[in-house]
Amino acid sequence: MARLSQELIDQVRQSVDIADVISQDVQLQRQGKNLVGHCPFHEDNTPSFSVSEQKQFFYCFSCHRSGSVFDFLMELHHLSFPQAVEQVAKLGSVTLPSDFQANDEARQSQAPDSQQSQLIKLHQTAMRLYHHILMNTPAGEPARRYLKKRGLTQELIDQFNLGYAPKEEVLKVVLEKEGHDYQLLRRSGLFTENRDGSLHDRFFDRVMFPLKDGQGRPVAFSGRLLQKSADSPKYLNSPETPIFNKRRLIFNFDLAKKAARENGKLLLFEGYMDVISAYGAGVLNGIASMGTSLTDEQLSMIVKTTNQLDICYDGDAPGQNAIERALKLIEASPVANQLRLRVVQLPTGQDPDEYIQQNGGARFREYLKNTEETPTAFRLRYLRQGLNLSNQAELLSYLNAAIGVIAKVSDPVARDVYIQQLAKEFQLSPQNLQQQLAVQVKKQPPVAVPNPTPPGEQWSDDSAVISGRRPFNGSQGQRYGRYNRKKHQATAQPAPQAVVLTASEQQSLALDQTERAERLLLVAVLHDYGVRAQLKAMPDFDFIHDQYRHLYQLALNYFTEHDEYELASFLDYVDDPALKATLTQLDGLDAQAALSPEAIDDCLRIIMQKTPLTQKIAQVKLSLQEAKARSNQELITQLTVELIELYGQKQRLKTEETS
Ligand code: UTP
Ligand code: MN
Repeated sequence: MARLSQELIDQVRQSVDIADVISQDVQLQRQGKNLVGHCPFHEDNTPSFSVSEQKQFFYCFSCHRSGSVFDFLMELHHLSFPQAVEQVAKLGSVTLPSDFQANDEARQSQAPDSQQSQLIKLHQTAMRLYHHILMNTPAGEPARRYLKKRGLTQELIDQFNLGYAPKEEVLKVVLEKEGHDYQLLRRSGLFTENRDGSLHDRFFDRVMFPLKDGQGRPVAFSGRLLQKSADSPKYLNSPETPIFNKRRLIFNFDLAKKAARENGKLLLFEGYMDVISAYGAGVLNGIASMGTSLTDEQLSMIVKTTNQLDICYDGDAPGQNAIERALKLIEASPVANQLRLRVVQLPTGQDPDEYIQQNGGARFREYLKNTEETPTAFRLRYLRQGLNLSNQAELLSYLNAAIGVIAKVSDPVARDVYIQQLAKEFQLSPQNLQQQLAVQVKKQPPVAVPNPTPPGEQWSDDSAVISGRRPFNGSQGQRYGRYNRKKHQATAQPAPQAVVLTASEQQSLALDQTERAERLLLVAVLHDYGVRAQLKAMPDFDFIHDQYRHLYQLALNYFTEHDEYELASFLDYVDDPALKATLTQLDGLDAQAALSPEAIDDCLRIIMQKTPLTQKIAQVKLSLQEAKARSNQELITQLTVELIELYGQKQRLKTEETS
């Protein structure tokens, strides 16, 4: 067996980026100059494993293991040095001398391996040929025009190595001239085989999208028709081959995983065109499956790369159904507890590609940032599809379904946040919703976590913890393409009506509720010492309408000199005839003066919501609570600063008013 020269070993080492190799086994994320992750050599709750791309070197601060890409592979996969060199050479496409064999095992596996690399070489040739035809020949002209019309730049076409398979047979001619083995050509999937065993180009008159493996090597193609056709699929894919397994291929994974190391997440689209457009818009971490739902294999590739996956599909009803189905599938998968899921839903009728064409890349990036939501938030909207919420029966059935969704969130703080939002949106008492929630939470089966993660790793948000997780049920083979997902329309099942509205809640659903609340509360202030004390203890509180705010101020003056309320004597404090009239009207509400503490709270809540600053403060407080629950230090700091600023604004408003 030949020994390798130091020079060749160096060449092999330099043919790859250590980060690419290690990230096949370890999820790495950018931290300053280095990439960090959990050390694969021991239990590592805090990420102590660091990789320097600059020095092509890894180091663990905890176990102090360190070394080159070869050391990593030797240690983790129990390889000898020559085996590690051989493996890296394969990844970096460096040819080692033919008499070099790392060991017996390598000798045995040499045949299939060389077949693999030969198949990849065929694909590289095909990719170059199709690209050349697209860019440089008259035959490629219609496809060039088509891609241009769709907004693809030269740069993007090059980056994705797009091509065109012409109407004439070209690939067979070129490859036969190169003198390849018939069996190899047959196995490549690039040809169809006639009865007589003759081979013919599989792809004709299609725009060619190379499908690349995780190392960016082309292993298959998907060819798109230039024009719709009734008797041919829009995209024609290569069949499965020794190098192409549909279940393992993720479109753009090679580039996206690099981007994911930088920004911490991957973005799942439905189609290749979405991924490519997004890339052109500077969103480099987009991926797509092959028009099918994500498979277990794809999901395990994803979690090796990142722990956040954003799903970005169309905004129409079928798009929403597809999101829901994707969420369900991931939540039921073995990696559910390793992935934090987020949803970005586009405006109705637009896929990401169309959105970018219409609005530009900058708007798209903004959109992604601003509309990202949790699966629960998405579901709360999703359940509303087709419901008329001003119909009380439909509203009640929606509320039940919504509480059912919230009950599945394992983090009590997050549950509370959602309940508060729901209550606020429909002007309901959170206490009432909380009660219903408590009943539903009890009914939840205990959360079965398939792979318990170390404490530091557990996600405390709702993404990975939808309980009642079923074992993976093989539904991953389903297609969720637009063409057949119409079957799955969302329906919020009319549930037994467990949510009951109180009388004051029903009133608060009516028009003019703010004013009504203000009036009720003001009457209570006049008649009830307890309510006055309650309000004085709330520095955030104020009435919305001037007339009630004035009357409230006057009442506070009045009560510094009086213990009991008396209309006649209070009227002395009121100069403005309009205010006098209002006050007299209010006196007619006396009958309702004895409001329950709950009703008072309802009124307060309705009024506070209408106070913009107060509302903002409440929102920020809520987000802060959520951020604290997740120990998101950066967000906590940011929100605290925001909160201080808001209190400052409020203070300034107060002093302006009194001066
Ligand atoms: P789309 O129809 O949304 O395709 O299908 P697209 O990527 O947006 O392409 P354009 O914009 O129409 O050019 C989504 C994905 O479903 C798979 C492909 O992976 C496609 O990207 N698909 C679709 C097929 O495999 N075969 C088909 O016939 C159609
Ligand atoms: Mn599209």
